[in-house]
Amino acid sequence: MPDADRVRLGRRQRAALTGPDQQQTWLTGRTIDFWRSFREPGLRSPHTWLRRSAGSWLPGCVFRDSALSARQVCTAFGLTTGSEASITAVARGAAGRVWCLDLGTERFAVKELFSPPDEGSVRREAAFTAHLERAGVRLAASVPGQADRFVVPVPGQAADRRLRLYRWIDGVLPDLADPGMAARIGDLLGRLHAHAPPAQVPAGDPWYDTVPALESWGHLTGAARTQSAGWAGALSARISLLADLADLVTPAPASGLITCHRDLHPDNVLAESSGALIPLDWDEAGPAIPDRELAAVLMFWHLSDQGEADSASVRRTLAAYLAAGGPGRIRDEQTFGMYLATRLNFLHRQASIALDPRTSPEHRGYAALEIADTLARLPALPLIRHLITLAAPDTG
Ligand SMILES: Nc1ncnc2c1ncn2[C@@H]1O[C@H](COP(=O)(O)OP(=O)(O)O)[C@@H](O)[C@H]1O
Ligand SMILES: [Mg+2]
Repeated sequence: MPDADRVRLGRRQRAALTGPDQQQTWLTGRTIDFWRSFREPGLRSPHTWLRRSAGSWLPGCVFRDSALSARQVCTAFGLTTGSEASITAVARGAAGRVWCLDLGTERFAVKELFSPPDEGSVRREAAFTAHLERAGVRLAASVPGQADRFVVPVPGQAADRRLRLYRWIDGVLPDLADPGMAARIGDLLGRLHAHAPPAQVPAGDPWYDTVPALESWGHLTGAARTQSAGWAGALSARISLLADLADLVTPAPASGLITCHRDLHPDNVLAESSGALIPLDWDEAGPAIPDRELAAVLMFWHLSDQGEADSASVRRTLAAYLAAGGPGRIRDEQTFGMYLATRLNFLHRQASIALDPRTSPEHRGYAALEIADTLARLPALPLIRHLITLAAPDTG
């Protein structure tokens, strides 16, 4: 297959293997544009860049030493393997890689976690999603394995290879150009918040309301330059914006916290053929102020590649959120603090991963793509002020 045929333009970069002989990597127009702006001299195409950064064509590299059989997964989760059972790699994200396990009559998503969470936090997550399901919210629910455990080792492999299992959702990534999408995501978030139980644990995870020290961006830029990382210049050019955004991040108030998804961006939602949006990836679920998650969803879903937001779409999301009973309101710049903290912390983590000499070529290549995407999508202060103005009628 020629390289050009292998590229599919999707919303965000993702690596996928859709069959044994068919490897595909999706790169967004945004990521490719960004790549163009800081590519290394002599590289002709994203494919070359991927090969160099990942050591080989990315999906091959991603999955080369990560083989998983249907039998292993079935053994791990106490499922019956029939002769028709098959397993296919479908995606990787920042936290894990995902396969589709097809048992003929039933399908599951299998996720291998890069850094396994503790069973206690996964149990809280499963209790939360079960609560939402009882309230009528459809979602990709977690399936326990033997002994009722959700995080299960791969039989016969290194003990740190851990899996989770979810019900398979037959859907596609949401089409952000679809005019109906703005209302659908507002409605989904409104229902999630309307049915959310109060927070089960106090706030206090610094990921959501603190940011890396300002000087750390200079250190990372210096290290990136030393290693000739392609993204060094882009990071350096945004240090002043990172400082401005960091100023808006304040500790979450101790009261008014509910249990939230906290990572409801379009890659964590699938659209069924009926148009229904089904939320996935509850790894980050935990306490949050609904105002702050509402602000994060506006950013995740409405910030365009040009750093603008379509006012009519934002209003549609806010109206649908209110109509569904969502209690959150966009009040001030600090309402965007959770979104900004997670973006800055994510950027810092991915830059640290990319620069760590122990990082494998696969993870370094992935981290570089995430750095590009995150830097390109940092919101400017006027955009934040514009969103506050758009929401003003709702805040009264
Ligand atoms: N239950 C599921 N049904 C169908 N596809 C899924 C399911 N869970 C995950 N996926 C696919 O795998 C991708 C990555 O899964 P996700 O849980 O978001 O991983 P990560 O934590 O690494 O971001 C999703 O964007 C989706 O395409
Ligand atoms: Mg995800």
